[in-house]
Amino acid sequence: MGDKRVGILGLGAYLPQKVLTNFDLEKMVNTSDEWIRTRTGINSRHIAPPELATSDLAVFAAGIAIKNAGIKKEDIGLIIVATITPDMIMPSTSCIVQAKLDIKEAACYDINAACSGFIFAVSTASDYIKNNPSRYALVIGAEIISRFVDWQDRSTCVLFGDGAGACVLGMVREGGLLSTYMGSDGTFADLLKIPAGGSKLPTTHKTLDNKLGFLKMEGNEVFKIAVRAMVDSVNKALLKANLTEKNVDCVIPHQANLRIIEAVLKKLGFSKDRAFLNIDRCGNMSAASTPVALYEAVSTGKIKRGDIVVLVAFGGGLTWGALVLRW
Ligand SMILES: CC(C)(COP(=O)(O)OP(=O)(O)OC[C@H]1O[C@@H](n2cnc3c(N)ncnc32)[C@H](O)[C@@H]1OP(=O)(O)O)[C@@H](O)C(=O)NCCC(=O)NCCS
Repeated sequence: MGDKRVGILGLGAYLPQKVLTNFDLEKMVNTSDEWIRTRTGINSRHIAPPELATSDLAVFAAGIAIKNAGIKKEDIGLIIVATITPDMIMPSTSCIVQAKLDIKEAACYDINAACSGFIFAVSTASDYIKNNPSRYALVIGAEIISRFVDWQDRSTCVLFGDGAGACVLGMVREGGLLSTYMGSDGTFADLLKIPAGGSKLPTTHKTLDNKLGFLKMEGNEVFKIAVRAMVDSVNKALLKANLTEKNVDCVIPHQANLRIIEAVLKKLGFSKDRAFLNIDRCGNMSAASTPVALYEAVSTGKIKRGDIVVLVAFGGGLTWGALVLRW
């Protein structure tokens, strides 16, 4: 393999056309544009139409990533979809994506690591490529969270949006992944969850009446741990790559709350202009947030060839992680 590394060959993203603004939300729940903007940094988010499922968003993003990578889809040996809003509990959304893209002979599975899902999936796929250097991996973060939020609960429904981002990974001669870091702490599982619809609380009339199939969150607690875990993840990933904060050209943080992002950047010593943000337009798209932001940062020229880029995320589980790459 020489000094080749695993790297990103192509990126893609898809955002549903429909935009839901804070002013639209004012008509739905007891909230205000001012509260949402000042507490979260979100102005609007995209919402998928009823006829689309998460796999459809994933397929749109993946198609662009495959085209940009310039590879033959027959050479894809692995498809991972990172999602907490799969088309259904079984089969995996990645198998549905495989069929829709007509990709033969790929192994397909989903990763449920909430908002850290894309980072966990890239990290896992990177090991696959190292063992199968002539193949490619398609990694997608895709979510339709709008189907799992309670549109009468103002403390959660204002935060999330739908979308998908994708990348094709393979061996590269220049740049590539310099380090990955993943962490979790399941003792915090109750802070962020969708309680019903699984084996513990199968869907019944009672779970529906009590709205237990929707996302529940202890926002304040999550906030505090998010800042610590994201800072720690970046520091650990940079250390593994033998780099320091000074080497970093662009940070792509998970886009959950602008105040979380600002606190993380401040603690790390990064100025805000070194980060790429789309939270104002997209809200929190869970596993889709980091790949969509990466796609936008690259396509708008914020990230240039040779730049050192850090992706960092945090989410339900709780989970966290970071990637360091040279573009
Ligand atoms: C959810 C979050 C925005 C709430 O912000 P906050 O500043 O912590 O606000 P609080 O929860 O303390 O609520 C303050 C008040 O605003 C109210 N409020 C909550 N949502 C509101 C809304 N959409 N509009 C108006 N008021 C709202 C609360 O009811 C509370 O009122 P009270 O003081 O009368 O009880 C914030 O905690 C957060 O972003 N946490 C991280 C969550 C996250 O990102 N999770 C995903 C991780 S991947």
